[in-house]
Amino acid sequence: MSDDSRDDYRGSGLQFPDGFVWGSATAAYQVEGAAAEDGRGPSIWDTFSRTPGKVWAGDTGDVAADLYHRLEADLDLMASLGLGAYRFSVAWPRVQPTGRGPVNRAGLDFYSRLVDGLLARGIRPVATLYHWDLPQPLEDAGGWPVRATAEAFEEYAGVLGSALGDRVATWTTLNEPWCSAYLGYGSGAHAPGRTEPAAALAAVHHLNLAHGLAVRALRETSTGTPEMSVTLNMHVFRGVGDGAAEAVRMVDGLANRVFLQPMLVGGYPQDVLDDTAALTDWSFVRDGDAETVRQPLDVLGVNYYSTTRVRLWDGAGTRERADGHKDVGGSPWPGVDERVEFPASPGPYTDMGWNIDPAGLEEVLRHLSRTYPDQALMVTENGAAFPDEVVTGPDGRPAVHDADRVDYLRRHVTACHRALAAGVDLRGYVVWSLLDNFEWGYGYAKRFGIVRVDYDTQERVVKDSGRWFADLARTGLLPG
Ligand code: NOJ
Repeated sequence: MSDDSRDDYRGSGLQFPDGFVWGSATAAYQVEGAAAEDGRGPSIWDTFSRTPGKVWAGDTGDVAADLYHRLEADLDLMASLGLGAYRFSVAWPRVQPTGRGPVNRAGLDFYSRLVDGLLARGIRPVATLYHWDLPQPLEDAGGWPVRATAEAFEEYAGVLGSALGDRVATWTTLNEPWCSAYLGYGSGAHAPGRTEPAAALAAVHHLNLAHGLAVRALRETSTGTPEMSVTLNMHVFRGVGDGAAEAVRMVDGLANRVFLQPMLVGGYPQDVLDDTAALTDWSFVRDGDAETVRQPLDVLGVNYYSTTRVRLWDGAGTRERADGHKDVGGSPWPGVDERVEFPASPGPYTDMGWNIDPAGLEEVLRHLSRTYPDQALMVTENGAAFPDEVVTGPDGRPAVHDADRVDYLRRHVTACHRALAAGVDLRGYVVWSLLDNFEWGYGYAKRFGIVRVDYDTQERVVKDSGRWFADLARTGLLPG
């Protein structure tokens, strides 16, 4: 930990450089609703959320924040917040209902209207191709553990490049492939809910391969000059106890380096191959894959929320499992699960139970910048869930005074400023999330929005954090 980490990170009056991008993010399944409309096919999240016991209170994304039907009003809302960029995801099953072959025109038209609406308001469209809603037929054929899914993704990327590649500012291939692989196929906390450690590792490779294939396809088909990117949820580990460095090495390999190295350098880290050798010989990696996966990226997206304590486990006593992920039985740490434990981190915590540690954001940005000096970075997600309270404002209208979220954002934006001051090539900061939305296994119980959504009426209420962020986005000056 650097000395800085002991500071409270409550910066004010800090000026960000011209051109620094301020944005906000959502993802298709979390906000769109309209799950069975205009030809959209089912995704693994439709299936999973309908499986009893998988999602809090049986919530689904059927309606969500209904953005699909409220596009124009939500675009106006974004403009009113002064956003410079909107990071959204395209629902693959809206565009290709069965995951390959026939294209659903109505689905593509929706995203075309979205992109045009952003451009008309001077907001950069940052489009993610995959934010976890795999078309169900592709899962039925094996899902991410099979190579054919990566090949289908290449086709899908070509469809999007041809349709929107004249206007999209930034293409992001995958959002948090860590979650897709390890929560989807390892722990089972996310769709499709499988708990097969070897399959999770095969999924890692096929997600990496899908990324490389998609960048190539997007480059070939986009007629504009979009930036290419991927978004990773970088885990910041704090090793404790004897052998802390070894514990960190193992989990950092599985969580971070298994994506960073193939994408940015080429090939897999040998120690990860060794750590997982009892589960797989990685023979699903074929000749030529390393070259395909490694593609020059204009920007590397970093999602950051919290830090994770890790310690070598000696097999005695009850293993601590405070790794920030829903414990539903399976493990998101294939190969090293029995060798590490995750002691609880000191607070304060958000409503997710995640500890608040803005120093971790500064550290990870500086670390990436040191390790990959030519790689531009962007914080593509950062934000916090808190149990917001709606009160009646002086004007008689509902208000949300979410001082805890403002404080969280302030500290993390300060961390970004420190990283910039240290010479990190950081291009922007994107807050998660524009709207309260479907928080995966937690359903609608957790609210991350800077805008509140009343799920009964779909009314939007800009929270204090939304106003605060709008000021920041307009001026580039961290308010006092
Ligand atoms: C990461 C994911 O990309 C997003 O979908 C999720 O809602 C947030 N983190 C908060 O957990």
